[in-house]
Amino acid sequence: METTSLLLRAPSANRVYTAAAGPLARAEARWVLGAHLGTAPEARERRIGGMDALEIHASELASDEGARLLGSLSATLGVLDLVEDDPETPVLRPRNPPDLFRHPADLETILKYPGKTNEQFTALLVNLAAALSTRRSGLFDGSLSLLDPLCGRGTTLNRALRLGLSPLGADLDRTDHEAYRAFLSTWLRDHRYKHTVSATALTVHGERLGPRLDVELAADKQTLRAGRGQSLTMLCCDTTRLGELLPARSVDALVADLPYGVQHGARADGAWQRSAREVLRSAADGWRRLLRDGGGLALAVNRRTLDHEAADEVLAAAGFRILSRDGAFRHRVDRSIDRDVLLAVPTDHPQLEQLSALDADQETDRP
Ligand SMILES: C[S@@+](CC[C@H](N)C(=O)[O-])C[C@H]1O[C@@H](n2cnc3c(N)ncnc32)[C@H](O)[C@@H]1O
Repeated sequence: METTSLLLRAPSANRVYTAAAGPLARAEARWVLGAHLGTAPEARERRIGGMDALEIHASELASDEGARLLGSLSATLGVLDLVEDDPETPVLRPRNPPDLFRHPADLETILKYPGKTNEQFTALLVNLAAALSTRRSGLFDGSLSLLDPLCGRGTTLNRALRLGLSPLGADLDRTDHEAYRAFLSTWLRDHRYKHTVSATALTVHGERLGPRLDVELAADKQTLRAGRGQSLTMLCCDTTRLGELLPARSVDALVADLPYGVQHGARADGAWQRSAREVLRSAADGWRRLLRDGGGLALAVNRRTLDHEAADEVLAAAGFRILSRDGAFRHRVDRSIDRDVLLAVPTDHPQLEQLSALDADQETDRP
């Protein structure tokens, strides 16, 4: 049965780039649903009852699994099915997507600081990176291994924790590292989770790199003791060292908001740089080694300091193919940030063709 679902968009979505919120939500829906269903469904923007919505057609979305997928999209406020037995009087039937989250929303929202990646945009990046992985359903059962190799104060890690994952993150900035440790410890205490926090030194071959944070958490003692809780690791080091610190082929989805050269510089070759190009060049090989077969990456970039062509050249040299077209997720954040998202997979990804076709679908179906 053909199903038309209306995905109501959160009204507060992307206050900074409101005009781009519709096309962004649509592009995310097509990539994420397309990867899960095998082919991108038709999706168009629509206003209904004075609210912004995406109208999505796909028979596969009638199931509970479909409701969960729709509910997981970063801009979803609510999901309704459109029943048009009588075109004169269409009926909207509410769906009840299962709750995706293991922890309260304040885990993502409490921390505020200059340079924080918008939480909703972070959710979009996480969804897109997970969709590229052949283990994409692990986003819903806690088994997807997710790394943010430029994690700042942990916006991606908090999203991943809320989803029930056990994420890994790394950042060079010691102040960010300490601020995140303090925040998470307090949050876990305040919310009465059973947890352990271990702050140790990160060393490799006897070289001391910086602090390391390992957290274990669970709702009750038994789960924690049995090692069935969630874990989080945050390393304070240069992202180019991650290949030496983490096991090869251990990551399904890599999410990063690359430095824009505005609030954050990019550290590469011993100097701070405006463009993320050099940090990407020196880190991409290591990131590639960390990815499991069938893994993928979603990178947010400022096109003013790193354009698609330059990113493509750097990523291709490390064995990646960018699947998203130039500007697929383009939106203006402010005068100095013209942002896009690059979706890339290793060239030996087993679903390369199927995923590449999603980009072609988007091309022909542009708003
Ligand atoms: C756009 S910010 C990420 C913000 C993060 N998503 C958040 O919400 O907190 C980019 C981050 O890259 C980090 N960075 C830049 N060069 C680095 C390098 N070579 N190794 C590790 N981190 C680096 C900066 O310290 C900064 O935190």
